[in-house]
Amino acid sequence: MFTTVHNIPTVRATLVLVLLATVLIFLWKTYCRFIQLGNRIPGIGVWNLTTGLLNQMPKNGPHVGLLGFLMNFVNGYHGAPCRIWVLSELCVILTKPKDIEVVLGNVKIFKKSDHYAMMKRLMGQGLFTADDFGVWRRHRKIITPTLHFNILKDFVPIFFKQATKLANKIKDKDQVNIFLAVGLCTLESICNTAMGINIFAQDSEDSAFLKDFYSVLKIWHTRMTSPWFMLDLLFNLSRLKSIHDKAAERMKCFTNEILQLKKEKIGANKSELAVNNEPRSTAFLDLMIKKGKEVMSDGELKDEIITLILAGQETTATVNSFALIMLAYHQNIQQKVQEELDSIFECRENECPTFEDLQKMNYLEMVIKETLRLYPALPLIGRTLDEDLEVNNIIIPAGSSVGIFLYGTHRDPDLYPSPNDFNPDNFLPERQSKRSNYSFVPFGAGIRNCIGQKYAMIQMKTILSTIVRRYRVSPGNGCPSLDNLQVMITSSLKPRHPINLSFTPRR
Ligand code: HEM
Ligand SMILES: *[C@@H]1O[C@H](CO)[C@@H](O)[C@H](O)[C@H]1NC(C)=O
Ligand SMILES: *[C@@H]1O[C@H](CO)[C@@H](O)[C@H](O)[C@H]1NC(C)=O
Ligand SMILES: *[C@@H]1O[C@H](CO)[C@@H](O)[C@H](O)[C@H]1NC(C)=O
Ligand SMILES: *[C@@H]1O[C@H](CO)[C@@H](O)[C@H](O)[C@H]1NC(C)=O
Ligand SMILES: *[C@@H]1O[C@H](CO)[C@@H](O)[C@H](O)[C@H]1NC(C)=O
Repeated sequence: MFTTVHNIPTVRATLVLVLLATVLIFLWKTYCRFIQLGNRIPGIGVWNLTTGLLNQMPKNGPHVGLLGFLMNFVNGYHGAPCRIWVLSELCVILTKPKDIEVVLGNVKIFKKSDHYAMMKRLMGQGLFTADDFGVWRRHRKIITPTLHFNILKDFVPIFFKQATKLANKIKDKDQVNIFLAVGLCTLESICNTAMGINIFAQDSEDSAFLKDFYSVLKIWHTRMTSPWFMLDLLFNLSRLKSIHDKAAERMKCFTNEILQLKKEKIGANKSELAVNNEPRSTAFLDLMIKKGKEVMSDGELKDEIITLILAGQETTATVNSFALIMLAYHQNIQQKVQEELDSIFECRENECPTFEDLQKMNYLEMVIKETLRLYPALPLIGRTLDEDLEVNNIIIPAGSSVGIFLYGTHRDPDLYPSPNDFNPDNFLPERQSKRSNYSFVPFGAGIRNCIGQKYAMIQMKTILSTIVRRYRVSPGNGCPSLDNLQVMITSSLKPRHPINLSFTPRR
């Protein structure tokens, strides 16, 4: 009896010690295993980053900054999986189609990597940044039909109206800052089609929504191009954070106001809707309110609308602009596009294209695809691994992030001969069918692929055809040849310096 009483504290202490040791051994083992597996993958670590990362961010050449760094980095390993240790974080970069397939083709790999945190502050649990599988799947089911072909058909006149506005604006100018002009056009188009409202972006440029939108994009740009602002901690301490948060808050309020207005309208006409069964407006927001009334809260609807606007504006503005730049610097290709458009439209000058007209624009489609190859609007996408993954005989441990570097894939000389040349013939059906599906992934692939790719294609065909039908596009001042064109990652892919183009009426 004596002994037991005496021993109780000792037993407790031993138990605690054993427990602590087990936990420590467990942590050590997993951590050690993580480090060991990580180190088995060829690549660089903190020491390289501190000694030379800033020097490794190229300031010259076709791709600058982070984009140039990644390009040089993956080329150093001939496209094989390679890793970067950022302190205790392991990031593995993939570029080869068969490696990308392992990640994007796996339905279990759902979570986006931490690199989306910047966008998540604005897009919340919207489809693009959602990390809750249940919420994401429920929303994706509701949103997919709102982007159905039958609905997209009705958008063509909206795109055409905005494209015509753009065409009229550039009429008497021979120096047009192309990203600025096209960006306003795609912003107005997306606000029209997503919310069913007009913000007159192309008319006055002083709508509050437009200013906040560009203010947020500018801050994202700053964050992506200044390494210290990539860190949340330093960004949170900076003046930019409050500017960002205020603009983001106003955008959310604005979207919410529109949402409440719509709900009132739709609520008031409930019976009328039920009779006709045909929705009056095909804007995403209206359709989502009707379809998702019971399952989507106001907060969720707001996140989805902001997501569609952000995901749909920047990307299409980038690709439309780069396509016009490519046509300006490749007059022979522009000639072929014009001939195709002439044969489709004959004497229907300045008329809105029909859906069938758009289907006939095969060569323009190849031009757009080739633009997406050289200038994928989102050059790098990422996932976080919940379980170990084997890629190309390498085990990537759970907890690491995987970066899929599309830009590198699209410029891989093993997949595309003369990969840096603009050549729409790369997308001749017979050439395309010889390549792996994962050699061209501008819209991502698998369960989290782009929900707006058909929307994007129809919008881009309408805008580009409208411009090319009316103008001959040629290079402006400041960028005498394509060798002077430098691109970088901002939130999407962008030229380093503004590019001007010049537009001459055809008739
Ligand atoms: C040329 C134009 C576009 C390009 C290059 C593009 C590219 C992409 C890519 C690469 C992804 C996958 C991201 C990832 O895997 O992390 C994506 C997702 C997405 N895109 Fe697009 N996109 C374009 C246009 C659009 C448009 C017009 C919309 C909306 C109307 C849109 C809405 C979305 C949404 C909501 C997602 C997230 C889907 C999900 O995770 O379920 N995109 N886009
Ligand atoms: C990274 O650092 C290690 C050790 O200092 C060095 O051996 C290696 O060459 C460096 N790699 C690169 C790509 O700079
Ligand atoms: C920075 O601020 C955001 C939003 O205010 C917050 O969610 C995040 O946790 C903060 N991060 C750090 C490292 O302070
Ligand atoms: C709702 O119905 C009223 C009268 O029936 C009509 O004036 C109004 O335009 C309708 N609103 C919508 C959004 O259809
Ligand atoms: C590539 O995609 C097409 C169309 O989605 C499909 O029919 C084909 O089987 C795919 N090819 C491979 C090798 O996965
Ligand atoms: C580009 O065009 C703008 C006017 O749209 C002009 O102010 C600017 O100087 C031009 N840039 C170059 C390099 O010519």
